[in-house]
Amino acid sequence: MVKHYSTRGSTSRQIAADLEGAIRTGKIHPAERLPTVRELAGELSVSPATVSSAFGKLRTRGLIVGRGRGGVRVAGPSSLSARPALRVPPGARDLTVANPDPALLPSLQHALKTLDRRPHLYGEPRNVPELIDIATQRFRDDGIDADSVVIASGALDGLERVLQAHLRVGDRVAVEDPGWTNVQDLVRALGLEPIPVPVDDYGLVPEHLEQALRGGVHGVIVTPRGQNPFGAALDTRRVNDLRRVIGSQPDLIVVEDDYAPWVTGAKAMTLTKGLPRWAVIRSVSKALGPDLRLAMVAGDPETCERVERRQLVGTGWVSHILQQIVTSLLSDPTVEQLLVKAHDSYSERREALMDALLEHGIHAYGRSGLSVWVPVREEASTMQLLLEAGWAVAPGERFRLRTPPALRITTTTLRQGEAIRLGRDLAAAMRPKRVRYSA
Ligand SMILES: Cc1ncc(COP(=O)(O)O)c(C=O)c1O
Repeated sequence: MVKHYSTRGSTSRQIAADLEGAIRTGKIHPAERLPTVRELAGELSVSPATVSSAFGKLRTRGLIVGRGRGGVRVAGPSSLSARPALRVPPGARDLTVANPDPALLPSLQHALKTLDRRPHLYGEPRNVPELIDIATQRFRDDGIDADSVVIASGALDGLERVLQAHLRVGDRVAVEDPGWTNVQDLVRALGLEPIPVPVDDYGLVPEHLEQALRGGVHGVIVTPRGQNPFGAALDTRRVNDLRRVIGSQPDLIVVEDDYAPWVTGAKAMTLTKGLPRWAVIRSVSKALGPDLRLAMVAGDPETCERVERRQLVGTGWVSHILQQIVTSLLSDPTVEQLLVKAHDSYSERREALMDALLEHGIHAYGRSGLSVWVPVREEASTMQLLLEAGWAVAPGERFRLRTPPALRITTTTLRQGEAIRLGRDLAAAMRPKRVRYSA
């Protein structure tokens, strides 16, 4: 409980502003417990309703989570702003960002040449029908019901819209641990409470998800393949096990973040079949390039209708120019071949690093996806030693809530020779050092 900070204020607005300032300036830290409503009301000589209202304001802004017997805690870092980018010194090999390999992205030349250049005006149909047809077909080919499909501005945008269609501030959402930072931050920024659920090679661990659901959870976010950063990918057995767990909660919204379909090195799998509330979100960012960010969202009719209605009073639609480019690329057989090549290359590069690490007795995780997750004893010192050897990698702390330390190494552009050298350098960085007394 926060004992080292004296809250000030006599109105709910003042109390909320004071606590917000303390959280932002680091006087109160993430996960610290705030006093109870009664305690703080007594301390400040105000009514419990005033403190309750202040907590409500902070909760809405995603700065605190929890209520009731568990108490109110300061949310994790960066609930309202993105985390600063990692600084990579000049000359270091940057393996911190899970970018696609530019050499494996399609050229836009043909798509731009065939673009319909007529001005598109307000009031026109919102989506390019051919794109909806392509999305529907691809979803159906993978056994995903696609009677309703919506176009969003990327996986994260789709995720935000689907969560907002069903959840209210304070609701709890099961998220993968480790998981992608921005998903965790997005959940917090929406005023929702992320409940970490451990993953293994096959995705969310059923017993842990069950436990989380017993504690009261309103939504679940699942990465069906290429899980970032751990590389988990669902298989049939895990699908069945998770379905049994999820099946007990008909009100749950189950969202699948299939953020890198076609290139992650794993088959499409879904938990959503026949569920009452669900969405599968597929982005083209990794396959076609992040600047063509657009997502196809399949879901139950009510979810899709809510997302679409909300879109109508906001952005309205995703640019037709973008939709046309994506349609053209996804209908091009040469792009299809390139996607197969990207899929194979990313798998080879990921596996090359895993093999190189195994040569040194280091077990890493990366069943699928664009990165490898390497458990380490100490993130900061291992990263520093790697940096001295010329490699910049991402600290696991950005991705994990309760999982132990690790590094995330993106392998999308890693060549065979580099994998071998990186394996050797990482092994050297992880070797126990003689310990020196230091103040
Ligand atoms: C798990 C996950 N979801 C979503 C995204 C981003 O998708 P988009 O660019 O479509 O928003 C990423 C990007 O790396 C990701 O790792």
